[in-house]
Amino acid sequence: MDEKYRERIRMPQLLDRVVSAATAAEWIQDGMVIGMSGFTRGGDAKAVPLALAERAHTDPLKITLITGASLGNDTDANLTKAGVLARRMPFQVDTTLRAAINRGEVMYIDQHLSETAEMLRTRQIPAVDIAIIEAIALTETGAIIPTTSVGNSATFAVLADKVIVEINLSQSMELEGLHDIYYAKPRPFREHIPLQKVSDRIGTSAIEIPPEKIIGIVITNKPDSASNALPPDAETAVIAGHLVEFLKREVAAGRLTNELLPIQAGIGTIANAVMAGFAHSPFEHLTMYSEVLQDSTFDLFDAGKLDFASASSITLSAKKSAEVLGNLGRYKDRLVLRPQEISNHPELIRRLGIIGINTALEVDIYGNVNSTHVLGTHMMNGIGGSGDFAGNAYLAVFATKSTAKDGHISSIVPMVSHVDHNEHDVDIIVTEVGLADLRGLAPRERAQVIIENCVAEPYRAMLQEYVAEAAKGGGQTPHVLAKALSWHTRFKETGSMIVPAEADPLATLACTAEQA
Ligand code: COA
Repeated sequence: MDEKYRERIRMPQLLDRVVSAATAAEWIQDGMVIGMSGFTRGGDAKAVPLALAERAHTDPLKITLITGASLGNDTDANLTKAGVLARRMPFQVDTTLRAAINRGEVMYIDQHLSETAEMLRTRQIPAVDIAIIEAIALTETGAIIPTTSVGNSATFAVLADKVIVEINLSQSMELEGLHDIYYAKPRPFREHIPLQKVSDRIGTSAIEIPPEKIIGIVITNKPDSASNALPPDAETAVIAGHLVEFLKREVAAGRLTNELLPIQAGIGTIANAVMAGFAHSPFEHLTMYSEVLQDSTFDLFDAGKLDFASASSITLSAKKSAEVLGNLGRYKDRLVLRPQEISNHPELIRRLGIIGINTALEVDIYGNVNSTHVLGTHMMNGIGGSGDFAGNAYLAVFATKSTAKDGHISSIVPMVSHVDHNEHDVDIIVTEVGLADLRGLAPRERAQVIIENCVAEPYRAMLQEYVAEAAKGGGQTPHVLAKALSWHTRFKETGSMIVPAEADPLATLACTAEQA
């Protein structure tokens, strides 16, 4: 009966395993750990989680959900509203789930993206009961050909006893051959990862598992959700410009060549804009060793700047998605998608010499970076792969606008309210004001360089005052502990980090007139 799926289900014995999403969702039991494909909206399982959310409205149950990274199609929102998520890891970007996490209703384990696979393999976290993996097809031997992401899918499928495959008819068959599945052996048989350059292929083109583990196949036809990164604006273009100028100076100093080193760019509007800035740079034959490929990657291919891009997922705006995925043949020999354990592998990042460009919510005067927690307590998205890269990169760059919320929040503060990337890992801070090169500087020097180069008024003067007062107390990393987080508390109390007199331009003017 399912002959029409022969191109997608090439192992005849598997044809009779096609079931509805509702049937597959029935196999998920209360308390199970589910490993699901999906990485920053790319290649996520779409039908079974939705059916599970629908079922849970009448038949409540709770699961632990592990994915590659964030999901699209409102899956996290639907599962949250249905009360299905007890625990969630390792990354999310959904507003409904974020609110439930911050209410303490969902236990969120915000984890370096390279680590989940290793923790599962070594049974440091509970085993996956059922894997749900989106695929373009199953091969003649029942191997799973993923779609627009690999993420943790290979790990889930290999380790779980039961696998449900969602064959997505809307995903292009041209994706076949794009993936490079390398699966690390358990210790003590672990070998070095034989990847010498970003374009190397070291694994198989599909996830090989015993086909008897595939308990059901669900046919879907829903595209990936479009990326919600905004196009570059005037400020992010200036940030990109500062970074390009800095890299030109590195080339002039003989530390880099015009090809630079492989580039990683994080998620979101700022990272996408910074990458877009390379289109107007003198650099050529660039390569990317990243985790997510956003619109800017394909703009750089089209501009003739980029030679090759390796990542774990492709996440595009609706417009770019139509251009790229409908035309994949144009890019295919310059792309590879890998498991996130490999795209984010610390040893590879150090050895390849990655230029890692990630985004901060806030940075402190010594170069500690908070990428995850608003005002120190409330989760935004998660650390994602930024720590995998920052801790091991040749250059760890963090970009942010110098202020947020109409200027009422300074992104540069005396002390960060949460630390994701500590001062020892951070090399460069860049805002629209300028760029701070922290390499080889001691904390007191770092503070001056950051304040002079990255901070807009009135915060620059406020930070100079803070640093001067802190210096009186001495120390390797001077602070006035009673005031270190006072900017955050002032924002909570008054809605602005600016001290009240300066918050009101009229009051400031009156003050100045009185002094005159
Ligand atoms: N305090 C509170 N809110 C802040 C803030 C601060 N210090 N700095 C920025 N924000 C807010 C912005 O106002 C904006 O809010 P809005 O959505 O209500 O408009 C939001 O944070 C996003 O900021 P934006 O300046 O648009 O940057 P972005 O889209 O590039 O996202 C991060 C920035 C840090 C949230 C995002 O990059 C992220 O989640 N990073 C962590 C994970 C990561 O780096 N992964 C990389 C590999 S997966």
